[in-house]
This record gives sequence, C-alpha cells and structure tokens, in this order.
Amino acid sequence: VVASIGLGISHAPQLWLRPPDEVDEVNAWYDAAHAAAARLRDLDLDAIVVIGNDHLHSTFLDMVVPFTVVTSARVRAELITGVGLEEPGTPALAESLVERMIDDGFEVAFSQSLTADHSVFIPLAALRAGGLTVPAIPMLVNCYVPPQPTLRRCFELGERLGAWAEASGSRVGVIGTGGLSHFPGTPRYRDPDREADEELLTTLREGKPEDLLRWDAKELDRRGLVELRSWMVALGARAGDMRPNQLTYQPSWHCGYTVVEF
Ligand SMILES: [Fe+2]
Repeated sequence: VVASIGLGISHAPQLWLRPPDEVDEVNAWYDAAHAAAARLRDLDLDAIVVIGNDHLHSTFLDMVVPFTVVTSARVRAELITGVGLEEPGTPALAESLVERMIDDGFEVAFSQSLTADHSVFIPLAALRAGGLTVPAIPMLVNCYVPPQPTLRRCFELGERLGAWAEASGSRVGVIGTGGLSHFPGTPRYRDPDREADEELLTTLREGKPEDLLRWDAKELDRRGLVELRSWMVALGARAGDMRPNQLTYQPSWHCGYTVVEF
C-alpha cells in the first residue's frame, strides 16, 4: 500500500517540557497526536517513516548531507542525554528504502548508529503514548545548514518514497515533523510568522502541496519555515491521494503546535 497515511506534526521541545504558560496549547496538541496515533493504529501498518531533521545535535559541520536514512537495528532518539527512547527498528525494510532511493537517483546517506534528536523523539514518543507500536524508520533532512535541499527535491524524494512503499508490499505511514513558523537561535524567536502558518495550512487543507514549491530557501528563512522541507518529503509520498485533515493548530509566542493528517 502506498504510504497509506501522512502526518505533519510539530516537534518543539516545549511539547515535552510543558511550560506552565502553555498548558492548554500543549494538551490540545497531545489530544490531536493521540487521535492521529489511533488512526494510524487502525491501519495496521508495517512501518512508519519519521522524517525529521538534525539540529546540529547528532552531526556537525564535519559532515553535512541532504538526506539520511537510519538503518540501525535499534532506533534511538533523544531530547538530551538521558531523555529519549530506544526501541527495535526494522533494518531490512530501511535498507530496502536506501537501495530503492539510490536506484531512483536519490543518493541518500544512511547510518547504522545515529541517535536522532527531538525531531524524531517528541512526535514518536507522543504517538507511542497514543498506542502506536509499529516500528519506525527515521529519515533526516538537512533543514538548517545552507545550502539545504530545495522543497522540490524534498517533494520528489517523497514521491519516490511512496513508490518504494507501493513496491515493497508493506503498509507504510509517512510522518513529517517540524514547525510551524519559528526562528530558533535568532532575535526573532518571539516573533513567529502566523500569516505564513495560515498560508501553509490553507494550502494543505486545499490539498495543493505543489503550490508550496514556489518557496525557495530565502523565502523559507523569511517565514521561519525551514523545517517544511521534512513535511515536503511526507507530502510528496502522499501526492495524488491526499485527504487533508487539520487536527490542531495551537499558536504560541514562539511556534505553532500542529497536527495535520494528509
Ligand atoms: Fe526543529
């Protein structure tokens, strides 16, 4: 079955840290994440590909690659040392994904040891708490170190990911993590672009992710939407079969908390 469900979901550390001034927003996000987990569970999937990004936690400037698939037998993801998860992966399926991408002209990197950061940990922990037990294949997109991959390249990779899922005979869900608009590590941290959030969510509700391909790296920087690259991989996998359903959007002073099914 072609990537039978897609999810765009936030991964802000505050979702784990639960700051006292955002109790309602964070709780609403967890309600939505758990509802999505229940729907994923009902689909009886064989695997979920969790597409996140590294925030210069697991890798640094000694090696910057556009796309990385984690093929380790044990999947590890953490917010900080000692706060994370470790669980069995599905290495044979992950390796078949790498092989198919390379056959299709997408020379993705792979790692048998990488520990993903909160971009994988927070959404995956929320889905686990919602009862989803299917194994995860982490995939990381270079969202932060210029020059990053274009949205078009991310989308096309997602299309190939969908074709791989179809050919694999497995039932695969795709989950893009990140966002929405935010400006971590910059003076604009307190000033997310809510108009950009609305523009993005409206485009998704209309089922037209291709319309977002007009945004180049400069536009993504300006809108605080650098992590949209990870969502675009998931959206590419679901192109042509999208049933958008916005489960929540909770604005906050630094970042909108979102769950969108597609
Ligand atoms: Fe992030």
